[in-house]
Amino acid sequence: MTDKSASMNLPTGNFDFPVLEGTVGPEVVDIRKLYARSGMFTYDPGFTSTASCESAITYIDGEKGVLLHRGYPIDQLAEHSTFMEVAYLLLRGELPTQQELDEFTYTISRHTMVHEQLAVFFRGFRRDAHPMAVLCGVVGALSAFYHDSTDITDPEQRMIASHRLIAKMPTLVAMAFKYSLGQPFMYPLNELSFTGNFLRMTFGVPAEPYEVNPIIENAMRRIFILHADHEQNASTSTVRLAGSSGANPFACIAAGIACLWGPAHGGANEAALNMLREIGDVKRIPEYIARAKDKNDPFRLMGFGHRVYKNFDPRAKVMKATADEVLKELNISDPVLDVAKELEHIALNDEYFIEKKLYPNVDFYSGIILNAIGFPTDMFTALFALARTVGWVAQWNEMIADPEQKIGRPRQLYVGHTRREYVPVNQRG
Ligand code: SDX
Repeated sequence: MTDKSASMNLPTGNFDFPVLEGTVGPEVVDIRKLYARSGMFTYDPGFTSTASCESAITYIDGEKGVLLHRGYPIDQLAEHSTFMEVAYLLLRGELPTQQELDEFTYTISRHTMVHEQLAVFFRGFRRDAHPMAVLCGVVGALSAFYHDSTDITDPEQRMIASHRLIAKMPTLVAMAFKYSLGQPFMYPLNELSFTGNFLRMTFGVPAEPYEVNPIIENAMRRIFILHADHEQNASTSTVRLAGSSGANPFACIAAGIACLWGPAHGGANEAALNMLREIGDVKRIPEYIARAKDKNDPFRLMGFGHRVYKNFDPRAKVMKATADEVLKELNISDPVLDVAKELEHIALNDEYFIEKKLYPNVDFYSGIILNAIGFPTDMFTALFALARTVGWVAQWNEMIADPEQKIGRPRQLYVGHTRREYVPVNQRG
């Protein structure tokens, strides 16, 4: 709270509202009592100017390209941390001591297996089902298997459900991949790192030992860290809204997965690589740039633009460097990377993109790395969901523990008919 206030001169009167300030970032006008006092709503579709909650987890400065997780810069975490350490940081608020990290990692590793009946559940899907469709179903179904951690009023159950979700997502994502191939599911091997365990479940087969490639393990570690959390983005807001009704955490994360799937959000990594492949050659880039600028063409450059970042997405910088490193270390030359770099160069020097502040986002380069590692494009968003589960769970816990939180229930500007009387069908013209 500050001693500042905001005066609003409205058709229904003049009102003062308190101004609240955080530790950093824009101050907010507290309009919680606006409707009760003035009889008016604010109008902000897409919530471009609306703070939906207080949070201490992630801070983004879109103008400066800043992304902090509990105060730590994303580039330092991507360089020095592990996904388990970032998960601990997001959930608990501090970097763990070695002992705390070991205990947390052990706890998570104890939840990596899923109920055997879930393997039967998978068999209900077509083999060619999109992995995100499978994940929406299977993660929502977890609440049918883990009744002992669905009471959200019990902090102990909340923490167990949080650990289960973080631990089981890699297993379920790997199962979705194996199911699409017709290969047997691989059980977790907990002596491996979180990322190594996932890679073995994904690319290993029961017929032979699987050696985790450290280059790929390191690339996936970075990719998971870069996708872990991102303030109140669409899918996180979905998880919070679902959680505000008291829905169990498995149902809330399933809702987040459904929202993330959209091509304007987490589905952009799949769409971006498909777009780069469709362009195929640097000579065709101008044609697509023109389409992206054409108001009458719904085409957008996938992997470009962001609601918050208006200079650069710090994650895209790390992702671009990782793409270079991984392709070089794996000795892969992918012409799509050349198309991506040339497209970025042309776009960043084009008036339209400069004026609209459009830059590559986290999804622009990630697909190139994932493709080089061997993932099919329809797995990309599932990998995003695997990593973002940590952020969703941390944000969900923060919301449930927030004494100010209540069920989310936005209002509207009604533009439909006023009252009119029913007309029997034989009198309608
Ligand atoms: C993610 O919110 C998050 O934090 C999300 C995320 C996370 O970690 O959770 O960062 C992950 O979702 C990244 C974004 C992935 N999506 C894409 O790459 C899809 C392509 N990008 C766009 O659809 C768009 O940029 C959004 C959805 C990302 C942001 O849209 P906004 O903020 O609502 O901006 P807008 O749609 O109002 O666009 C502003 C202008 C428009 O032109 P005008 O109407 O003003 O004339 O910029 C244009 C848009 O037409 N524009 C683009 C464009 N993105 C915006 N034009 C061409 N290509 C694009 N990619």
